[in-house]
Amino acid sequence: MKILVLHGPNLQLLGEREPGIYGRNSLDAINHKLMERAKELGVELVIYQSNHEGELLDLISRYRNQCQGILINPAALTHYSYALRDCLAAVQIPAVEVHLSNIYAREEFRHKSVTAGVCLGQISGFGPASYILGLEALCRHLKPQDAAGEATD
Ligand code: DQA
Repeated sequence: MKILVLHGPNLQLLGEREPGIYGRNSLDAINHKLMERAKELGVELVIYQSNHEGELLDLISRYRNQCQGILINPAALTHYSYALRDCLAAVQIPAVEVHLSNIYAREEFRHKSVTAGVCLGQISGFGPASYILGLEALCRHLKPQDAAGEATD
């Protein structure tokens, strides 16, 4: 099972970018943690970061028949990209949206996600753990048999 992991604009600067909000972990460090957890969960990750909306749409479209799930931090695109929302809706691949910071505890323009409504769900505010929790939630959805015996409701 393959999962497409997408990091949106400015996430390449993690570690240096507003560390009081986003922490000191680099994107490489987050990707490393994700890959370790993916190995334990028995899934393969294909990871990209892009500062360009169109490139993210192209990636979703390109991998639509190769990936069974999408883990995405759309970054600022979360708040205004109807094109990204439409793309996620179009491919119908189960997606989980994640954010390092709690977008609901920040500026008002961040309180709205135009993309979360076409995702299975959203995890926001747990730093790098948001990505791990998002991956776990996605795997649980994709491989419910592996979660058998654990509480689900
Ligand atoms: C972010 C939150 C967004 O509002 C912001 O534009 C980002 C990062 C997060 O992970 O907390 O770039 O998605």
